[in-house]
Amino acid sequence: MTRPPKLLIFDSGLGGLTVFAETVKLRPHADYVYCADDAGFPYGSWKEPELVERVVELMERLIADHAPDIVVIACNTASTIVLPYLRVHWPALPFVGTVPAIKPAAERTRSRMISVLGTQGTVARDYTQNLIAQFAAHCSVTLVGSKRLASLAESYMHGERVRDADIGAEIAPCFQEEGGKRTDAIVLACTHYPLLVDELKRLAPWPVEWIDPAPAIARRADQLLGERFGADAAGDRQGSRCANFTSGVRPPAPLAATLARYGLVWAAVAPTA
Ligand code: DGL
Repeated sequence: MTRPPKLLIFDSGLGGLTVFAETVKLRPHADYVYCADDAGFPYGSWKEPELVERVVELMERLIADHAPDIVVIACNTASTIVLPYLRVHWPALPFVGTVPAIKPAAERTRSRMISVLGTQGTVARDYTQNLIAQFAAHCSVTLVGSKRLASLAESYMHGERVRDADIGAEIAPCFQEEGGKRTDAIVLACTHYPLLVDELKRLAPWPVEWIDPAPAIARRADQLLGERFGADAAGDRQGSRCANFTSGVRPPAPLAATLARYGLVWAAVAPTA
């Protein structure tokens, strides 16, 4: 194949930028469409059937508009429920999902005490329970469904001030002590959370390993593209990188500046209810 591949990277908001940034490192010459369903944000509180319906409907439009070669669902809350439906609807299109990184956490912990920090939706999923049963049966696993952390990360990306006390309150239940041992690994099971990783490290009551799956997701997307397109094209070509928001609202200046730091340019689309 001589043309560069096109990737569609999808999240409810700006969290998928953590995956986008890692993917761009491996595929700098590809074309990218970043889509944030800001009209539907946050996904954490959506009921499962409604969320499936919404994401499948949005994909109908996005795939028709952009004809991507691969779709990265850069959202745990959606991936842990929607992926099987997407794969049935578009059997020829590769979908890469983002699911809680419980396996690496269970491999790296020494204390055998790990926490999974995700949205309320993600921690309630059978998918997450199954990962724990499969990979972390030897660990004590604390599930922490955060109500506000994704929204705090959004505010941060919009250049707004986020209070330490608010972040601290969201992460506090992750830190457990039991019989002289304590939590030493925390799974960032929402793509928004690594956006705040410096704050998380600073506000942690003790040092832990924060596990961000973004580099592994990027490697998987790169591998799948490699099967069809070969290695990333060398040369000077700069691929296109545009960002869509389902609200259709033009990003205010601080957010536009954040997007520009990622090399993304906003492209208007018709709003989605
Ligand atoms: N970024 C999304 C995730 O990885 C969730 C944020 C939301 O609640 O919409 O789960």
